[in-house]
Amino acid sequence: MNLPLTGIKIIDFTHVQAGPACTQLLAWFGADVIKVERPGSGDVTRNQLRDIPDADALYFTMLNSNKRSLTLDTKKPEGKEVLERLIGESDVLVENFGPGALDRMGFSWERINELNPKMIVASVKGFSEGHHYSDLKVYENVAQCAGGAASTTGFWDGPPTVSAAALGDSNTGMHLAIGILTALIGRDKTGKGQKVAVSMQDAVLNLCRVKMRDQQRLERVGYLEEYPQYPHGTFTDVVPRGGNAGGGGQPGWVLKCKGWETDPNAYIYFTIQGHAWEPICRAIGHPEWINDPDYSTAEARQPHIFDIFAKIEEWLADKTKYEAVDILRKFDIPCSPVLSMKELAYDESMRKTESIVEVDHPVRGKYLTVGSPIKFSDMKPEITASPLLGEHTDEVLAQLGYTAQQIAKMHEANAV
Ligand code: COA
Repeated sequence: MNLPLTGIKIIDFTHVQAGPACTQLLAWFGADVIKVERPGSGDVTRNQLRDIPDADALYFTMLNSNKRSLTLDTKKPEGKEVLERLIGESDVLVENFGPGALDRMGFSWERINELNPKMIVASVKGFSEGHHYSDLKVYENVAQCAGGAASTTGFWDGPPTVSAAALGDSNTGMHLAIGILTALIGRDKTGKGQKVAVSMQDAVLNLCRVKMRDQQRLERVGYLEEYPQYPHGTFTDVVPRGGNAGGGGQPGWVLKCKGWETDPNAYIYFTIQGHAWEPICRAIGHPEWINDPDYSTAEARQPHIFDIFAKIEEWLADKTKYEAVDILRKFDIPCSPVLSMKELAYDESMRKTESIVEVDHPVRGKYLTVGSPIKFSDMKPEITASPLLGEHTDEVLAQLGYTAQQIAKMHEANAV
């Protein structure tokens, strides 16, 4: 299949999660992504949390599919020479090293721009350039704390809580992918490359924008009516943690279903959409609430919203989460079962839509990975295995014009 990014060559100087998630997405859509890794060790995630002693860890395989691997010691002159040649022939260089690492290696933006003025250099850092924390190295949870997610997640009587969703890592990678594609379109118009940067703090904050909305509302009116603290609790001058409350204009909560005593995920998320009040009352067997002035408007319901949720839980007590959703969907009520990773892994629909796919790996055999969450009408990315360390070194060097003799010499110098 001729994928849209076919012909785009990307030097993938990324590691761990944020950068690899970005370049993997671009590889799915056709780019030739050459992962540059340190000889002997490679991306640290190859070894992290291994489930099979000598096979690349799932952490690596699930973030580096469809790529080629080139081992290169870019601190040695031979390695630098290869990288320079590669820069001359590529469209994009993506990196997520600690602050200043690329400059220390001798590949500042100015130098890369000199080598190839059409090159797009894309970076993930913890904080934006010019920020007072821009010298910090950052991992996922650090970013969630810096970007406002942790202070607004969890319950009001507990500590700030991080999400299991990789808001700092993969999310930043997705932002960077948008930046790269934009810069590529820009280059078509100007003929020039540019520097693209996304900070993990900013990418987290971008997903927390409704909490910034709430901060401003709180400062103006002193309360937030959709939070559990309203109307009985108290507010300070900062956005509180709202537990499982709906973040938009409709109240929602995680509700217990049949079996919750023993199954940690026997719950549904239930949303009370204002205009769906009538169907909700009918669905849960309380038609008398439809015209009761204590219940008929969102404002009237808010003071006893948790009593309403308790009544819904009574209705749910003899229904599994799946049975409950099957009833509620007929009434057009926005809801979902709380799905475990096990349920998702074996969900037939997720396999059918290729949102979860099985990939064959030469060492580990079959494993599951997350497929493209973006669906197209005219193309279907095919997910292939992640490369072994240095699997494509000789191939890439030969494509760059190195002779077999020169390649052997580089192996001897341990530059590759
Ligand atoms: N050959 C030779 N040297 C190489 C190399 C190669 N192929 N690839 C990397 N290196 C060197 C770098 O030049 C750098 O050396 P230096 O520090 O002497 O200049 C070093 O390896 C990598 O440093 P760094 O990226 O800082 O690694 P780390 O393990 O100390 O820190 C992070 C890891 C993720 C904390 C850090 O990279 C970071 O903050 N990145 C930006 C934010 C980010 O993406 N974080 C999320 C990751 S999911």
